[in-house]
Amino acid sequence: MTTNSQVIYLKDYQVPVFTIETTDLDIRIGDEYTSVVARLKVKRNPASNNPSSELALQGGKDIKLQEVMMNGLILDASSYDLEGSVLSVHQCPDTFELTTECLIQPQLNTSLEGLYKSGGMYCTQCEAEGFRNITYYLDRPDALSIFTTRISADKTTYPILLANGNPLEHGDLDNGEHFAVWHDPFPKPAYLFAMVAGDLVRQDDLFTTQSGRQVDLQIFVEAHNSHKCDHALSALKRSMLWDEQKYGREYDLDLFMIVAVDDFNMGAMENKGLNIFNSDCVLADPATSSDATFERIEGIVAHEYFHNWSGNRVTCRDWFQLSLKEGFTVFRDAQYTSDTYSAAVKRIEDVTLLRTHQFAEDAGPMAHPIRPASYMEINNFYSVTVYEKGAEVVGMIHTLLGAELFRKGSDLYFDRHDGQAVTTDDFVAAMADASGIDLSQFKHWYSQAGTPTLEVTDTYDAANQQYCLTIEQSTPATAECQEKSPFHLPLRMALLDAQGLEMPLQLQTGGMVQGHNCVLNITQARQTFIFEGINEHPIPSLLRGFSAPVKLNYAYTQTQLLLLASKDQDGFSRWEACQRLLIEATRQAMSATTDYHLDEALVTMLRSSLVDEALDPAMVAKLVQLPSEAYLAETQATVDVDQIHTGRETMRLAIAMALENELLACYQRCHNIGSFSQTGEAIGQRALKNTCLGYLNTLNKASYQTLAQTQYALQANMTDVGAALSILIGQKNADLSTPLLADFYQRWQGDAQVLGQWFAMQAGANLRGRLGHVKALLEHPAFDLRNPNKVRSVVGSFMRSAINFHAADGSGYEFVADMVLRLNASNPMMAANLAKPLGRFKRHTLGRQQLMQAQLQRLHQTELSKDVFEVVSKALTNR
Ligand code: TRP
Ligand code: ZN
Repeated sequence: MTTNSQVIYLKDYQVPVFTIETTDLDIRIGDEYTSVVARLKVKRNPASNNPSSELALQGGKDIKLQEVMMNGLILDASSYDLEGSVLSVHQCPDTFELTTECLIQPQLNTSLEGLYKSGGMYCTQCEAEGFRNITYYLDRPDALSIFTTRISADKTTYPILLANGNPLEHGDLDNGEHFAVWHDPFPKPAYLFAMVAGDLVRQDDLFTTQSGRQVDLQIFVEAHNSHKCDHALSALKRSMLWDEQKYGREYDLDLFMIVAVDDFNMGAMENKGLNIFNSDCVLADPATSSDATFERIEGIVAHEYFHNWSGNRVTCRDWFQLSLKEGFTVFRDAQYTSDTYSAAVKRIEDVTLLRTHQFAEDAGPMAHPIRPASYMEINNFYSVTVYEKGAEVVGMIHTLLGAELFRKGSDLYFDRHDGQAVTTDDFVAAMADASGIDLSQFKHWYSQAGTPTLEVTDTYDAANQQYCLTIEQSTPATAECQEKSPFHLPLRMALLDAQGLEMPLQLQTGGMVQGHNCVLNITQARQTFIFEGINEHPIPSLLRGFSAPVKLNYAYTQTQLLLLASKDQDGFSRWEACQRLLIEATRQAMSATTDYHLDEALVTMLRSSLVDEALDPAMVAKLVQLPSEAYLAETQATVDVDQIHTGRETMRLAIAMALENELLACYQRCHNIGSFSQTGEAIGQRALKNTCLGYLNTLNKASYQTLAQTQYALQANMTDVGAALSILIGQKNADLSTPLLADFYQRWQGDAQVLGQWFAMQAGANLRGRLGHVKALLEHPAFDLRNPNKVRSVVGSFMRSAINFHAADGSGYEFVADMVLRLNASNPMMAANLAKPLGRFKRHTLGRQQLMQAQLQRLHQTELSKDVFEVVSKALTNR
């Protein structure tokens, strides 16, 4: 049990009684204590009708208040209260200056919230509520203030001193210290505050905005990482240009800084003018980073940059509105990636993430709408729902409005609310006002959790040449809402004839037809759409581009799916048809008692993709890859982890046996492409060849093991090296990988990013009985429990292997619960994230349900942080 588990409700929102017009911070970094003097210009908020004269400022449990002054006079102890961690100042006038002095010890801060030390540098993470660990403050996103920050520290140890905005002055002090003063002219909430002090090197670039202003771009990293900055800098410039062209959004300061830190709970943080990144999410070079890492970094750099408008210039009124900035910004970074690289491949990746992880969250005890109605700990709501489903909801608005009206809507939103802290209602209102489209029913997406299912049936009337589609929607009950109102959603579709050609569409009512494509406007629980002039029974290509975050059932025949899988012009739908076929075949493989025989039509379809040199190789790789075990679990009513694993392995082997020659030919063709390059074509070829190499190595033949060993030995690039090594680790014979793992470690032990991959490859191996190996990795000298990246590499990767996490004896659950307990006090946010999968026991087989609940009970009986308590208690209540 825990003591502090108060629930915060959206309905209780009230505007702040006071506002802080300016915030002057004087931060003196010392070895034992760091002193923080905060001088706040406070004013009564005219928007509040609360007559109270009490100013309540939040603080953290580890800050030591030294002194409180009002208008320059020291307040005696009777003029304020320090209860819990709230500082209440009594009898405040309408306008005054409040100065506090606090002492903090960042070097002891392991939660990585607030000011902390990572390696030799000081840095901050203030979202969501970290600023209160630095000083007493109105730590809420609707309290906007103009910040000036003075930092002083030892000059030799911390030669670089950074904060938000523009540098005002800097200089030397007598005792070997120096100082710098920074001023941010844009009012911002405290969660966007940042500062850094450390020994860092800088790489510079320049960007000229569309209006001709020059912006200095600077990346700060530790000296040994100076060769890993180029990619992030060029991604940043591409993002800046794209946001001007696509959204008309220009950068607004003369300086944009990025700092890389090794210890960071999440990917990166959009602090105004001073983004702070997890080293793993910004540092890259071809020798040490895979193609996937390059892609991920570009997406995150874009994401944080886009927050400058969607998040910073227009921010959130309260944390229930988190998806206002996160959903919109994920949508924007996905648009950026699809405009810059392959749109179909990006869509497939995003949909896979959503359907695997967000659908699971939506069906579990932590299910919440993209705008939650309540929370205990906001850190638990930086979720796939708020981010990824939030982006899907913005994407549906984009589909319903069309690109042009959506842009009118985003312009109106930014113009109307620039400098404000607003709500998702304000966002939807701007979209509705600019387009004239009624989005009132659409708003259910913000308040109702759960994944809707669409049941689609059809009839064809040859005599009248009419085709009718009937769509029924339903959404399962979730803890916060039992009875769901129907959602408003766009269903993009086309009709294909027997040759796979798109038919011309004539829809009676209920949707928009654009050429041979159409978007059905789904608003009711059950709805029928009639197409006229249809001269043969069509094959419907439904939910093109995954136009809504739903599950769609339609009784496709195998023949229909085969046609869609080879002919559908919509890249996403083509892949989707292929996946449906593979899922069905895997289902058969799961229940096959004797030797499983792969359907010849399926083999033909896979073969035609593998030999088609005109297709984008990245797309071919996606087409021939089996759905993950995690996604297969989503398609089962009761998850049987062993059956899924065995069935999928059977399928992999069957495909490799049936297509051995084609896989090898495809491997050779994509392997021999000359020197390393990072064009989309070359990246796609690497993805495809490594997919082929994986299949070939299910055959357990020495020649393919040699192929993988040779690819490793070539050391051509990290994509190929990592893939070859992972494939060899996945072989039952450990002798194949042991020497290579030692070699890999020898080569890269000095590089934290590569070492992370070394841990992840071993901990994530999808072979039974890996727990002992994983526990040994925790004892490795390079492992560090205080470093979230290492914890993710080892514990996170382990949990992704279902046969290990869900081992039938419960050892995986016990191990994870142990790790939750070890991290509970030191880093509650990380601990809670590890605990979340333990809560999703409901859909597992009975034995596993009991074992998972036993570990949750065990956690429940200990003193838990708010973060972990919320996850555990909801898991035990919301079954
Ligand atoms: N706003 C950040 C992003 O999405 C998220 C983030 C980074 C965060 N670090 C955090 C959220 C720490 C909570 C706590 O870009
Ligand atoms: Zn974000």
